[in-house]
Amino acid sequence: MLAAISHDLRTPLTLLRLRTENVENAEEQERMLATIAEMDAMIAATLAFARGEATAEPSRLTDVTALLASIVDDIADAGMPVTMDPAAPVVCDCRPAALRRAVSNLIDNAVKYGKAAHAAIAATPRTVEVSIDDEGPGIPEQELTRVFQPFYRLEDSRSRETGGVGLGLAIALSIVEAHGGELTLANRPEGGLRAHIALPR
Ligand SMILES: Nc1ncnc2c1ncn2[C@@H]1O[C@H](COP(=O)(O)OP(=O)(O)OP(=O)(O)O)[C@@H](O)[C@H]1O
Ligand SMILES: [Mg+2]
Repeated sequence: MLAAISHDLRTPLTLLRLRTENVENAEEQERMLATIAEMDAMIAATLAFARGEATAEPSRLTDVTALLASIVDDIADAGMPVTMDPAAPVVCDCRPAALRRAVSNLIDNAVKYGKAAHAAIAATPRTVEVSIDDEGPGIPEQELTRVFQPFYRLEDSRSRETGGVGLGLAIALSIVEAHGGELTLANRPEGGLRAHIALPR
């Protein structure tokens, strides 16, 4: 349903874009086109997410330490500042492609808003704990839960420069919850944000 709605919204949006040609005020026209482009990006992101969710990936026994290391390697290879603590293998029953997406979104945020990402993994008797720390300003306490809402972005990251439509955390949360896990954000006492995933195993 989400995919169908997102898809159908594109036609009126295209009509709207065509109609801006009749707007005489050039500045107003430019603003309208910018808003339309923003809506288009939101719809594209929603569609991509809905499509991903629709292809339900089977669960399988996965070494989450190796998975995390491979995500970190891929992002580091792309020239981003991300490191990982060495850790022993931790095997758990999960959907690896979905988990990869959730963790990538968190690392992406840590690099984008927090200068650098530092990943760690640990096992307890019942859970797998993955944390992504950064060195940024963190998130104001009163916004810590709100940033999980789709399309919600903090004021200072609204500029299109940083890209993003505000779906990364919503997607990560939905994936972690589908695993029966928990995703939390907290400001670290020493500064920077910590995103923490706890998965049952
Ligand atoms: N590590 C972080 N440090 C500071 N602020 C953050 C951090 N992670 C997220 N935020 C804030 O939370 C908002 C929502 O994050 P989210 O990942 O959902 O969306 P996005 O990064 O803006 O876009 P997208 O992930 O869709 O590309 C961000 O715009 C930013 O304001
Ligand atoms: Mg993001």
